Amino acid sequence: MKTIFITGASSGIGRETTKYFAAQGWRVIATMRNLKKAGDLETLPNVTIMPLDVTDTEQIRQTCRKALAEYDIDVLLNNAGYGIMAPFERIPESEIRKLFETDVFGTMFVTQEFIPHFKARRSGAILTTTSLAAIIGLPRDGAYGAAKRAQQGMVESLYYELKPFGVAVKAMIPGGTKTNFQTPLNDLTGYEKIAANQRKYLLAGNAEFPEATEAAKIVFEAATDGKDQINYPTDSVCKKLYEQYQSMGLESFKIYFSGLLYEVTT
Ligand SMILES: NC(=O)c1ccc[n+]([C@@H]2O[C@H](COP(=O)([O-])OP(=O)(O)OC[C@H]3O[C@@H](n4cnc5c(N)ncnc54)[C@H](OP(=O)(O)O)[C@@H]3O)[C@@H](O)[C@H]2O)c1
Repeated sequence: MKTIFITGASSGIGRETTKYFAAQGWRVIATMRNLKKAGDLETLPNVTIMPLDVTDTEQIRQTCRKALAEYDIDVLLNNAGYGIMAPFERIPESEIRKLFETDVFGTMFVTQEFIPHFKARRSGAILTTTSLAAIIGLPRDGAYGAAKRAQQGMVESLYYELKPFGVAVKAMIPGGTKTNFQTPLNDLTGYEKIAANQRKYLLAGNAEFPEATEAAKIVFEAATDGKDQINYPTDSVCKKLYEQYQSMGLESFKIYFSGLLYEVTT
């Protein structure tokens, strides 16, 4: 039986991915910082719940080592994370440090625990949920985008390091998925209009962002397609912008996107 280890499985993309892989006959080690949130995941066949707060380095060591000792893990999904959105000059140092502890350092230290296993095994995949903000700089994402670009940098570097060992390294890239995506800091001061324009553009006439089930299917594809591909947009919102950005390049895209942000009337 194939096995995936997921961080941040208590909600959103991590939770739906847990359900999707379990339904495809995989064993899922669903980790979360608050075990009380496991709910119906506990009743699913072949789902094992383990505690993991990715800011707790001792717990990272314990949980990853326990899971690796008990199961032959095929796929790691680094998914735990959250965002803060605010004009850059208004983001407190403490919020930036907290964000990096989770999104950057947590992801890095979990990944380090798994690398020797995958190298020895000479197969498997390390998937990391980065963000469209890891690819495209968006206003009020100065800290979040930097954290997600750090994850993306780790992914792209590891791709080369682990290629000779037959280990795939891929980025799962959401752009707008309907989840409990947490923004403990969401400050619009002075940027209310462009934030509204950005949201309108991302929604593209839809009332809501796509469900996390859409992302779960793409994660499964990335884990099983055998393709030599790094980036996987996981929702239709991301796919559209990602493709525009790739075809235009930064300098043309910035003109196009500035037009949308500053000239579209709401
Ligand atoms: N939704 C989007 O549009 C979007 C866009 C770009 C990137 N992403 C990325 O997608 C990933 C999943 O987010 P989501 O959208 O599914 O939001 P979500 O529903 O809030 O899920 C985030 C998960 O991360 C967990 N988490 C947060 N801090 C943690 C910590 N210190 N240790 C362990 N787990 C922690 C949360 O646990 P609790 O339930 O305990 O809080 C939750 O399980 C994140 O990395 C996020 O940055 C999402």
